[in-house]
Amino acid sequence: MPENQQKLIHTFGALAELGHEVSQKNDFQELIRTSLHLLLGALGIMRGGVARYSRFGHELNMLAVRGLGDEFPLSLTICSEDERQFLTNGTVPIEIAQAKVLPFFQIYDRSFAAKKLELLVPLVIRDEIVGVVLLGEKANGEPYSSYDRDIICAMTRHIGVGIAQRNLMAELERRADENRRLYDDLRMTYKDTVKAFATAIDCKDKYTEGHSVRVGKYSEIIAAELGWDDEQVEGAAVAGYLHDVGKLTVESSIINSPHRINAKETAALNKHPVIGYEILLPIHHPYADVPLAAKYHHERLDGRGYPDELCDRDIPYIAKIVCLADSFDAMTTDRPYKRRRPAHEVIEDLQYNAGRQFAPELVTAFCRAMLKEITQETKEKKFRRLLGREYLEAEGIVSLLKNALNVMNGTSSLTLVNLD
Ligand SMILES: [Fe+2]
Repeated sequence: MPENQQKLIHTFGALAELGHEVSQKNDFQELIRTSLHLLLGALGIMRGGVARYSRFGHELNMLAVRGLGDEFPLSLTICSEDERQFLTNGTVPIEIAQAKVLPFFQIYDRSFAAKKLELLVPLVIRDEIVGVVLLGEKANGEPYSSYDRDIICAMTRHIGVGIAQRNLMAELERRADENRRLYDDLRMTYKDTVKAFATAIDCKDKYTEGHSVRVGKYSEIIAAELGWDDEQVEGAAVAGYLHDVGKLTVESSIINSPHRINAKETAALNKHPVIGYEILLPIHHPYADVPLAAKYHHERLDGRGYPDELCDRDIPYIAKIVCLADSFDAMTTDRPYKRRRPAHEVIEDLQYNAGRQFAPELVTAFCRAMLKEITQETKEKKFRRLLGREYLEAEGIVSLLKNALNVMNGTSSLTLVNLD
């Protein structure tokens, strides 16, 4: 086989391998090292290096070098004049000895001469400089032929594409990070706004101070105990925070009545779920069920709730969560006409009403979360902060909770207890 033909097969073999490297390698550094190795090997070049261009610092940072020694600068600065020339040049190799007119070659003349570097190939991809390849003399001492230059052009283009791909990935990752940060900021803002709104709702009712915020927190506890993901748990908290938003339109004298309200006042007050729904519906919430939680948080499994007297499966799940959280807070806080009930009574009430008013699996989850906290199975102190330590650790509460859980676990498949 003629020598030229052999050379051709050899170099095109290297080129094919380089193409394969660019498309396969996940390790960028390794890709560049292998590419340089293939290029130098294909043409018998003694030494060389590949640098990536950073357009912010106007720097060429060496990614891979071979035979350039420790003294060779790892970072080379280029000015706009050099950049313009490199762009005009494209991927055609520049003779270092004949390019001294450019500032870049004047600055690094000694380093290039010391290592007998002969060619610089700008890596220009889609009219952008992504790096350069520096090449030393050939092992056989011959000058670079036009054939060599064609091979260099083809192979360095592959290296350029590899660097451009990496740049693109880095840019995508940066934008994804930025988007994530913006999204987190937005979520925080939304949550803060919701909390501020909950505080505003609670301000209207001087006897149930902090009620909406507590209902939000109890709803969050239930959703977390059900194993929901972070976003769903946050959605449950928001539904709790906003469940009574309709009360903003109910007269203060009714809400703040120091005694039990009459039938007419009760009718006015009982409109708050529907009004809340109407207020929340046009708002674009990140969590779908927030308006439904407001509308149906006074429904009961047995169909004796309001506004629509829905039964079990017709009640949205989120409303069942908020209903339990709401009722629990009502039982465990002082009201103008009644003191809060002791913990054992509240647990008995929850157990009794599981399947009547509340979804049994939610009562189970709620009691389980409470038990875990009291027995310090978890480090959470949510109940303690909301109810006070003494209240929660009253005598017999642990065995009462365990017993309730045992009984309810036996009936957990039951969703509606027969009242007859
Ligand atoms: Fe309510």
